Amino acid sequence: MALRILKKIDQTSLDTACVIVPCHTAEDAERALRLLDLGSESARFVQEFDPASEDNGNIYVHGKKMIFTGLAKADAFGKIKQAFQVLSGKLKGKKYQTHVLLLSHLKDKPDDIALLADAAVNGLLLGSYDFGLLKTHDGEENEKQVADLHVVTGSLDLAQVIHTSEAAAITQLSIYELVNLPSSHKTPDTLAQWAADSARAHQYQIEILDENALNAQGFDALLAVNRGSEYPPRLIVCQYNGTDDTETPLIAFVGKGVTFDTGGVSLKSGDAMHLMKSDMSGAAAVLGAVELIARPKAPVRVIACAPCTDNNIGTRSINPGDVIGSYSGKTIEVINTDAEGRLILADALAYVVKKYNPDVVVDLATLTGSIVRALGNFCAGMFTHSDSLADALTDAGEQTGERLWRMPLWEDYADEMKSDIADIKNLSDKPAAGSITAAKFLEHFIPDHPAWAHLDIAGVAFKANGVNKSHAATAFGVRLLYEFVLKYRKG
Ligand code: BES
Ligand code: MN
Ligand code: ZN
Repeated sequence: MALRILKKIDQTSLDTACVIVPCHTAEDAERALRLLDLGSESARFVQEFDPASEDNGNIYVHGKKMIFTGLAKADAFGKIKQAFQVLSGKLKGKKYQTHVLLLSHLKDKPDDIALLADAAVNGLLLGSYDFGLLKTHDGEENEKQVADLHVVTGSLDLAQVIHTSEAAAITQLSIYELVNLPSSHKTPDTLAQWAADSARAHQYQIEILDENALNAQGFDALLAVNRGSEYPPRLIVCQYNGTDDTETPLIAFVGKGVTFDTGGVSLKSGDAMHLMKSDMSGAAAVLGAVELIARPKAPVRVIACAPCTDNNIGTRSINPGDVIGSYSGKTIEVINTDAEGRLILADALAYVVKKYNPDVVVDLATLTGSIVRALGNFCAGMFTHSDSLADALTDAGEQTGERLWRMPLWEDYADEMKSDIADIKNLSDKPAAGSITAAKFLEHFIPDHPAWAHLDIAGVAFKANGVNKSHAATAFGVRLLYEFVLKYRKG
């Protein structure tokens, strides 16, 4: 899809276009119609149009198709983006050659228009995603028509904001693809290849530890989870150095990369197991974030580390009750093999801290069903001891519409993870506070780090989107981490 920025609407393209008109007020709609020379034809429409309604107003005037999106209730980035993503999803396959996003009729403050432009462009591009990746098409259907996007800005200079928004969408779409891929088409090596391609294209460093390297360096917990699998594990480490200034904090991201989670011997029930192809969403998010940060050569320093394996059953699988080692040297009693994410994260967290000594560590993981029961699908759970890190991450999430809600990490919860036979066990005895005890487990492998945050994204990474029948990837975390890194300062 081609994106163009125009000062004025191109009347000649309107016959095959659909004009999208964001409106906070009825006057916005009126002004837009006047710009298009359609004022008097559509007086009645304007009278009836309610910008506070969630429904879009559709009209045809003189053969011109227009969609008015009422934004009276959508003030934040996330809400606006969502509205345009759903709209764009519904326009898919409608055979317009061009989607024209009209902004030149707006009278809001320049900053508000910039935010709207970002959210609308991002949403429209993301909504154009083709979910039918593995569908077979015959004949003409094969030629998928993807509409071009023309953004009409009037005298406002929105080029930078629109290009940044487009860049974000390109990376986010690539992350959608990776997460939506089924495990028949996705192994740890698929993620490693994605990262290697991205590193080459965007010029950052990458190191991929294969099974031999992981064995040699003692990644025993990652290797233990991988024991039931056909496919060897990978530890992907991406490094982007945008500055030599050592005052710039070194920020490390760690993402859970379970390419499919059967639960292992403690097998999951079948009803929702197919969704577990998305259990690598944390890894995808941190890889995508580094790509997005490296694209404009931002003057920051980041690392992304993704431990990758599937969690499967085989004759060599770990069994419940087994005791395994870990990169940190600590022993772990595996009460339940379905609590595998924390095992591979334990190794990755310990490794990143030992090898790179980062100032900040943020991990993202589809870690527990418990966080979904607590918070639903509207925000991720955040666990950290650092108030300033919590604030910085929360602010970034508010900006990008990827909301975080802070959960406790009190020492009271640590007791339940004590094991009689090993240093720690991977599951509490009590069927309560599962997302918190999981976070306490992780903390064990990154003790006393002054700025560590764990984001449990199980409820937000893969969900219903208002367009598809089933759940789909959201790329949660990609823009959030980008925003966070650009703003974060030491101290
Ligand atoms: N990958 C799952 C968590 C998950 C659940 C992600 C729902 C997305 C949606 C994780 O590995 C897991 O299986 N967690 C278990 C732990 C259980 C053994 C206590 C859970 O939370 O149910
Ligand atoms: Mn599991
Ligand atoms: Zn899992």
